[in-house]
Amino acid sequence: MSYNLLQGKRGIIFGALNPDSIAWKVAERAHEEGATLTLSNTAIAMRMGETQQLAKKLNTEAIPADATNVDDLNQLFTQSMDILGGKIDFILHSIGMSPNVRKDRHYSDLNYSYLDKTLDVSAISFHKVLQTARKLDAINEWGSVVALSYVAAQRSFFGYNDMADAKALLESIARSFGYIYGRERNVRINTISQSPTKTTAGNGVKGFDRLLDFAERMSPLGNATADDCADYCITLFSDLTKRVTMQNLFNDGGFSSMGMSLRALQQYEKGLHEDCECGPAADEHLYD
Ligand SMILES: NC(=O)c1ccc[n+]([C@@H]2O[C@H](COP(=O)([O-])OP(=O)(O)OC[C@H]3O[C@@H](n4cnc5c(N)ncnc54)[C@H](O)[C@@H]3O)[C@@H](O)[C@H]2O)c1
Repeated sequence: MSYNLLQGKRGIIFGALNPDSIAWKVAERAHEEGATLTLSNTAIAMRMGETQQLAKKLNTEAIPADATNVDDLNQLFTQSMDILGGKIDFILHSIGMSPNVRKDRHYSDLNYSYLDKTLDVSAISFHKVLQTARKLDAINEWGSVVALSYVAAQRSFFGYNDMADAKALLESIARSFGYIYGRERNVRINTISQSPTKTTAGNGVKGFDRLLDFAERMSPLGNATADDCADYCITLFSDLTKRVTMQNLFNDGGFSSMGMSLRALQQYEKGLHEDCECGPAADEHLYD
């Protein structure tokens, strides 16, 4: 259902790889709400993924840009303003990648050049997007910028690895830049901390299916889906949230405020009396 919340607004959406991507759902919802927008992803993601198909469906253009490359971002903003016919009103940063996670490096044995890459792609790219936009004066007054985060920025989650550090930095950038851009241009900057969601990036997290199940049992409202996240993004892009800024906003069915739920406890109890064959001293139990 459309409420025309983004009628006349122009946006840039980063990170729609395939129909599972959270950014894909956000782009579809933004279009439905009356926005015009461009899509962006890396050149390789555009070749391997389905970003172009989405662009076609939404009657717009997908512009290749590596979000860690400032020249690419300059091009992207300039081209987007040309295509859309004016300055930008909203931006979604939906980008994440960790070579340490991909290559199964343990958090206590990180490869530091991989860590540089994790931080650059998953967090510093957000600063680059904002700095490039500001230098080009590409965002309209009262514009809105959202990046996607995860609760591992505040709490330890087994297997989330150096992405936890990247998300902590991402949320900090939203606060630091939110102050500057807010004072100067009334631009608001927030992060949404989303439930685990089945996507290409999500599936890369160690034990993802179990995490998804655990979060579902813990959250009074259940896990937020990618569609739920898209709805939340639309409210933040709309004029109804004009003075919400520098926040990390949980879209997680209540997970982040829970300690233990009966559903999770009951599932835990089922496994209590099952002894593992490998014995308590085995390596894989070290971080139980
Ligand atoms: N899936 C989850 O469980 C979950 C939960 C909370 C937050 N998030 C966050 O949501 C965001 C979107 O992830 P998703 O789950 O939709 O997965 P996804 O794999 O569909 O999206 C990740 C996107 O990042 C893009 N990307 C990677 N490197 C890039 C670069 N250098 N420049 C530009 N784009 C680049 C990929 O091409 C891809 O489109 C990420 O920030 C992720 O950390 C995901």
